[in-house]
Amino acid sequence: MKDRETMTSADFNYVRDLMRDQSALTLEPGKEYLLESRLEPLAKTEGFPGYQQLVRRLRTGPVTDLHRKVVEAMTNNETTFFRDARVFAMLSGSVLPALIAARSAERSINIWCAACSTGQEPYSIAMLLHEQLPALDGWKIRIVASDISRDVLARARAGRYTQTEINRGLPASKLVKHFVQDGSAWVLSPEIRRMVEFREINLIQSWQNLPAVHLILMRNVLIYFEVAVKKTILEKASQLLDPRGFLVLGGAETTMNLHDSFEPVSYGGAVCFRRGAPRQA
Ligand SMILES: C[S@@+](CC[C@H](N)C(=O)[O-])C[C@H]1O[C@@H](n2cnc3c(N)ncnc32)[C@H](O)[C@@H]1O
Repeated sequence: MKDRETMTSADFNYVRDLMRDQSALTLEPGKEYLLESRLEPLAKTEGFPGYQQLVRRLRTGPVTDLHRKVVEAMTNNETTFFRDARVFAMLSGSVLPALIAARSAERSINIWCAACSTGQEPYSIAMLLHEQLPALDGWKIRIVASDISRDVLARARAGRYTQTEINRGLPASKLVKHFVQDGSAWVLSPEIRRMVEFREINLIQSWQNLPAVHLILMRNVLIYFEVAVKKTILEKASQLLDPRGFLVLGGAETTMNLHDSFEPVSYGGAVCFRRGAPRQA
């Protein structure tokens, strides 16, 4: 039997450094199993006998698209429709009504869903806003959704979900209203898909061509970054966010001790962050 090649520490360190430089994602010592399980499928589709040969090519060859694909393969893309019911109750019951009231003169709202993965999060917001019609008829609602990974962005744009993805968080009423079945997949209506504009944005690089934003959803991504990176990203977010706007982070994320100008505001068990707002809504 052929001896199984094991990962050298040089291979591991190379991928760890590549991830840190390209995405700021950290790969802790001891996570060799993660690297192996994520890179083995990529190695096969790229025509390498195994992930070890893939990593060797990265280390010895010129920088190519393969480096980007490796970084993408190492990202965690976990997401669901209406992830965290309390957050979506806060959005539909408090945040969106407050924004609609605050923006009634301009009749426009810009939303940015940073690190949107396969699109369930921005499409959940789009479905909520769609329910506000016809009250929002004539408004300019712009939802920009971005991620570092081209692969998840392509899947998000397609708006095509498996039964398992649908079962994770999408209420039956919204399935019936906004999706049609195509074989074993469910396809989101063009009406909702058109509401979301997908873009490739790496949070540690320039955030090009984003308008001033009234609501930022940046959920379950800061958790992967080191403190200095979180601080830089929150500073950029504070500059982009309208003074009356809202920032929503993941349940395990906060601005506390990272950025002074954000204050947490609680709405029925969920928290969002506002610039210099009082602690209670
Ligand atoms: C766990 S998912 C969160 C998805 C969604 N926001 C949610 O909460 O359900 C994290 C996403 O962050 C993206 N990501 C990781 N590093 C990034 C970076 N440097 N810039 C932009 N997106 C990044 C990953 O590709 C992944 O899709």
